[in-house]
Amino acid sequence: MTRNSIFAGLVAVICLVAAHSFAEEKPKGEKEKSELAKIMGEIDKSYKAVEQISGYYKYSDNDWSVIAEASANIVQLAKVVISKFPRPDDKKYQDLNKLMLTEAEKMLEVTSHKNERGALEDAQWQVRRLRQTCAVCHKHLGIHLYPQLYPGKKDELQPGQEEIPAPKETGAPKDW
Ligand code: HEC
Repeated sequence: MTRNSIFAGLVAVICLVAAHSFAEEKPKGEKEKSELAKIMGEIDKSYKAVEQISGYYKYSDNDWSVIAEASANIVQLAKVVISKFPRPDDKKYQDLNKLMLTEAEKMLEVTSHKNERGALEDAQWQVRRLRQTCAVCHKHLGIHLYPQLYPGKKDELQPGQEEIPAPKETGAPKDW
């Protein structure tokens, strides 16, 4: 191989990588978002509001109202998805939409007895149940948006993105 063709190859690779990362930054590009995608975006906002505080040891009244509002939103939106975007020939999709509705309703229900013992754990459990519903349906449909959305989830990282464990030995010099 000549120096020039290596260079040309390199430029091509760089262009590909650049185009790829550009495409990832704007997943939909020029394409108009479908109505379902917009609703999903709304569901996502509410879901994330709840997920964000799901690691707390204690919820303030304000946290509880965030959860109540978000779950009420998801309940509403899930109902819209179920009635406006049915897929009668995909039973799994139908079931998972209903499950999303049920889990959101349960989350709302938890907020109504927020002062009882175990309410915090119940709410956090519902976050996980809900997330699982999202993930299962997206997986079922081959929709891959979790690496961007939930960067903490190890099993959904892109190859090469794995966390590198910190070295166990401390014998190595600091600036090697
Ligand atoms: C029953 C199936 C199903 C469930 C459950 C589901 N989704 Fe989706 N989701 C879809 C489909 C289908 C699309 C693609 C819509 C499109 O592009 O037209 C999508 C797309 C998305 C998108 C991308 C929207 C965009 O801007 O392109 C986000 C974000 C999203 N879902 C979040 C969630 C969250 C958060 C949950 C759980 C609380 C969830 N989804 C539950 C089916 C589901």
